[in-house]
Amino acid sequence: MASFKEIISTLPRRKGWTDSNNDLFLYQGFWCYSFFIEGVMSAQQNFQSQPSDIVICSAPKTGTTWLKSLTFAIVTRTTFDDSTSPLLANLSHDCVPFLEVDLAQSSTNRDPKNPLLATHVPYSSLPRSIIDSSCKIVYICRNPKDSFVSFYHFIARLSASKDMKPVALEEAFELYCQGVSNYGPYWDHVLGFWKASLDRPDKILFLKYEEMIEDTILYVKKLADFIGYPFSSEEIKKGSIDKIVSMCSFENLSNLEVNKSGKHREGTPGVIENKIYFRKGKVGDWENYLTPEMAAQLDSITLQKLNGSGLTL
Ligand code: A3P
Repeated sequence: MASFKEIISTLPRRKGWTDSNNDLFLYQGFWCYSFFIEGVMSAQQNFQSQPSDIVICSAPKTGTTWLKSLTFAIVTRTTFDDSTSPLLANLSHDCVPFLEVDLAQSSTNRDPKNPLLATHVPYSSLPRSIIDSSCKIVYICRNPKDSFVSFYHFIARLSASKDMKPVALEEAFELYCQGVSNYGPYWDHVLGFWKASLDRPDKILFLKYEEMIEDTILYVKKLADFIGYPFSSEEIKKGSIDKIVSMCSFENLSNLEVNKSGKHREGTPGVIENKIYFRKGKVGDWENYLTPEMAAQLDSITLQKLNGSGLTL
C-alpha cells in the first residue's frame, strides 16, 4: 500500500504563501500543507470519537484561539475559576488537543477529563466517527476580508520567526481568492459546516466571530447550553458568565506572560511563538490593508459562493 507521503506526492500542488518550498497540496477538495494532510489521513483511519466529545471546528484565523479558550473555561469551571484556570498559564491551543497533530495516530492519548478536541478539517473530510457519533461540533467563521488579513499577518509573523519571507500581500490575496490557502477554499469550508448545521442543528452550533464580539455573554450562554454545560441561574447571578468572558477577552489573554513570551510546540519543527496568535482581535481591520478594489473583489466572490445558501458573511 502506498504511504501517505507517496499519495501526497501525486496530489495537485501550488506554491504556499512564503518563499520556502513548503507547497500546498489539494486533498479531498481542500488545500493544505503536507504535514497536516498526513495527520488528516491518519486521523481519518484511526480516530474514534466518543459521544461526550466536543469538537471545535474552524478554518484558520477565524477566532479558534478565542473559541477554544471560552469552551475550555466553560467545561472546566467547576474545577477552576478565573484565578486558577490553566488558561492563565497556557495558550488555549495547549489546553485542547488538535486532531490532525495530537490525535492523528491514536485516540487513546487523551485526558479522560477533557472532552474537547479541535480541528481545521472541512466537514466532509472529518473522520467518519465524528460525523456518525452523537458528539457535538461547534464551528466558528469570520468575515473573509478580516480572515484574509489576519491570515496574511500570521504568515508574515511566522515567517519572520523562521527565516522565511512571506509572498507580497497582493500575491497572497490572489491565492486566497483562488481558494489556495491552508484548509481553503475558505468559502467551501464555511459552507460545508453551514449546510451540515442546517441539516443537524442538534449536532452543530454555527457561530460567527463578529456576532460573538458584539454580544459575547449571549453566545457564551448559547455555547454552554449547546455543549451540555448550561449555567445554572445561581451561576448567572454570581456572574460566572461575565468572569469567563473577561478572562477570555483579547485584552486579558494577550497580556498574559505566557502569551507574550511563551511558545507553542516548543522543541518541534512546528514551534510557534504564542504572541503570533494575538494581533488586534478587531472587526473590520481589513480596511487598513485592502484597497477598495480588493475588498470589492472579495465581497463579490463571497456573494457568488454563498448565493442561495441563506448565509451572509
Ligand atoms: P486578528 O489577526 O484580526 O487580530 P485564530 O485563533 O483562528 O488563529 O484567529 C486569530 C484571530 O483571532 C486574530 O485576529 C487574533 O487576534 C484573534 N483573537 C485571538 N484571541 C482572541 C480573543 N481572545 N478574542 C478575540 N479575538 C481573538
